[in-house]
Amino acid sequence: MPEMNTDFRHLLASDNASGVHPEVMAKLAEINRGHAPGYGADALTEAALERFAQLFGERSETLLLFNGTGANVLALKGMLRSHESVLCSELAHLLVDECGAPEHFVGCKLTPVPAPNGKLTRDAIEARLAAGHSGGVHRNRPRVLSLSQATERGTLYSLGELRAFGELARKQGLLVHLDGARIANAAVALDASFAELVEWVDVLSFGGTKNGLMMAEALVILNPDLQQAYPYLRKQGMQLASKHRYLAAQFLAYFDNQLWRRNAANANAMARRLGQGLAAIDGVMLSEPVDVNLVFAQLPNAWLEDIQRLTPCLALRGETRTEVRLVTSFDTSPADIDAFVDAVARLAAER
Ligand SMILES: Cc1ncc(COP(=O)(O)O)c(C=O)c1O
Repeated sequence: MPEMNTDFRHLLASDNASGVHPEVMAKLAEINRGHAPGYGADALTEAALERFAQLFGERSETLLLFNGTGANVLALKGMLRSHESVLCSELAHLLVDECGAPEHFVGCKLTPVPAPNGKLTRDAIEARLAAGHSGGVHRNRPRVLSLSQATERGTLYSLGELRAFGELARKQGLLVHLDGARIANAAVALDASFAELVEWVDVLSFGGTKNGLMMAEALVILNPDLQQAYPYLRKQGMQLASKHRYLAAQFLAYFDNQLWRRNAANANAMARRLGQGLAAIDGVMLSEPVDVNLVFAQLPNAWLEDIQRLTPCLALRGETRTEVRLVTSFDTSPADIDAFVDAVARLAAER
């Protein structure tokens, strides 16, 4: 499968640019027969939810959804009242890349906290909490701490850091939301189970689409006190699929034979290969260590047009240098990476 991508123009554009894993497609084809009850009352859904319960514990409750913004919005909707606020990184997807959906649909305030490499720190959160304490009814009350794992900069929270955030949250009366759009990549990189990653989490947005599924995400509600409202919020929030078994089947394929792990391991390994290859080229510097499937590289502005011809990618232009974000996927191959790195090396040599 991987070689077919070598000429793909969008090779490193995004993990949303990759396709659906063939095992997921095969599963969809296999179950695509006959009729079954809608809205999640079918046997495939029961089986998929059982897998989630095995991974996250019998006290967890999972709802299958269509997309990541929906997962984040619903997560927050069930955790907050309108006078309460969410503390999140200044780079958080839910703050900057969801077109204000949380503010619109939840009706709450999002409070950005400095996080230059995507990671919140205890000090920054404590400073933000302290700054808000004196305002009385004039200030929103912080209620949720939202973390992304992996972060939008491809960085990771260690299990120790997650524990420290969890303890801080309990002490301060905050609930913890985890945006796990790339939780599979994080679990592989940290060699941790999903359960370990959410030990201190109340509600998890569990990503699937970026790691080989087709429009399939989940909300895992780990705090039993919050669970009752979510099925209603999902329907009200337009995230309840009528032909729900087609979401469920994808997760069955995902958990069968560790597809999630194989996909994330490949994406992470290809990002490492890409990072190493690029770092060896004169004129290129990596902005962050490469832990998951995101590579942030700085290069001269003059190269950008040629890079974008090789693969469109997010680019942040500075005065003389541009930072590009390159993203690997479950089907990125060593040959893809080597061809891209060679092309960049040629670019460097020509200048
Ligand atoms: C950190 C993070 N959270 C959530 C999402 C989900 O977004 P979408 O609504 O596009 O599925 C993304 C996708 O880019 C993401 O990077």
